[in-house]
Amino acid sequence: MKDFNYYAPTEVVFGEHSEEQVARLVKKYGGTKVLVHYGGQSAVRSGLLDKVCELLASSNIAFITLGGVVPNPRLSLAQKGIEMCHREGVDFILAVGGGSVIDSAKCIAYGVCYEGNVWDIYLGKAKPVKMLPVASVLTIPAAGSEMSESSVITNEDGDIKLGYSNNLSRPKFAIMNPQRTFTLPPYQTAAGVTDMMMHTMERYFTKDDDMDLTTDIAEALLRRMKTAIFAVLKNPEDYRNRAQIMWGGSVMHNGLTGCGVSDDWATHQLEHELSGMFDVTHGAGLAVVWPSWARYVMHENLSRFVRFAVNVMDVPNDFTDPEGTALLGIEAMERFYHAIGMPINIKELIGRDITDAEIKEMARKCSRNYTATCGCLKVLHAEDMEIIYQMARG
Ligand code: NZQ
Ligand code: ZN
Repeated sequence: MKDFNYYAPTEVVFGEHSEEQVARLVKKYGGTKVLVHYGGQSAVRSGLLDKVCELLASSNIAFITLGGVVPNPRLSLAQKGIEMCHREGVDFILAVGGGSVIDSAKCIAYGVCYEGNVWDIYLGKAKPVKMLPVASVLTIPAAGSEMSESSVITNEDGDIKLGYSNNLSRPKFAIMNPQRTFTLPPYQTAAGVTDMMMHTMERYFTKDDDMDLTTDIAEALLRRMKTAIFAVLKNPEDYRNRAQIMWGGSVMHNGLTGCGVSDDWATHQLEHELSGMFDVTHGAGLAVVWPSWARYVMHENLSRFVRFAVNVMDVPNDFTDPEGTALLGIEAMERFYHAIGMPINIKELIGRDITDAEIKEMARKCSRNYTATCGCLKVLHAEDMEIIYQMARG
């Protein structure tokens, strides 16, 4: 069992009227001049953005706004935000949206307190010592950025998508009203659930499998998400199940399901190349990578894959054939992805055959020009990455 530090400082304010508390919370965490950061359309269309701005104004909190964050958020908009914050003396960033908006907010918050180019931080060339406080009004449960220490940014110059993790960036508060997720299209709902489940699966498929309580929590969360997703796809206004998903997304990525275990993250790193190159939805990319990754690495801890098959995917345990049971679990996961509208291979994801040259390029980028590995259950080199992409091509 690994020793661990569990650090989840974000104040969660959850429920139907939670956004009413936004001004009080901004003041509590020291915000006097706020950048309200948001995405494309949804927060405007739903009236949430106006509501947040009115609440800030009526509490005499000064603010400016910057919208236009796109999924797979771009460095150039964050750089614009950094300039605006300097110019206007902003001391607090409030993200109204999902993972992309929150990640862009975190990037801005780093950049305001760093004299060089904020991209240095994502490249690992600089380590931030401070940043502006960030918080969110969450509109899509998926990335878990509302409580996580990570942010993922895409540099359009070369389509390079990089994540950076630092506890400094854990948001001060997260406002979560499940009603705000009623408007999510089925594809985003399903991709979100795929992503949050994967955040726990990245920690579940580990060699340190003696932290039983973490395993129990992980399996309960995975099973709950499997049920809740079908309920909300059937009835998008099912508050009860939207709430399970919204809270699940935070708990599955705030570190709880990583206590006492090593985490893997190979599926995520392999996926970041897909969304970096093809600008696809992150969760859908994960559904494409995971089955091939699982088949490639399962012998590193076969009993773990058997346990997943039986306890999460409801596969009968054939004690005489652990490999067969593990494989049935992976196939059951593929059927689940299809049932919720997710792709399971690259062809389904991007709508055409991927070329060998594109696969080689993704393996090159994922291995940072053949200098880095990814994964922990099985350490993957560029040649392993290429094999997994080939297995996933469809
Ligand atoms: O831009 P708008 O119009 O708001 O539309 C968004 C966007 O198109 C829409 N949406 C959001 N809330 C909605 C809504 N539509 C209707 N009703 C609502 N209530 O949903 C689309 C996706 O939004 P996005 O923020 O991109 O989703 P998500 O939360 O999945 O974030 C994805 C990003 O997070 C990164 C991913 O790589 C990707 O870039 N990740 C961040 C992590 C972290 N910081 O810890 C971890 C994750 O593994 C992930 O890598
Ligand atoms: Zn993810």
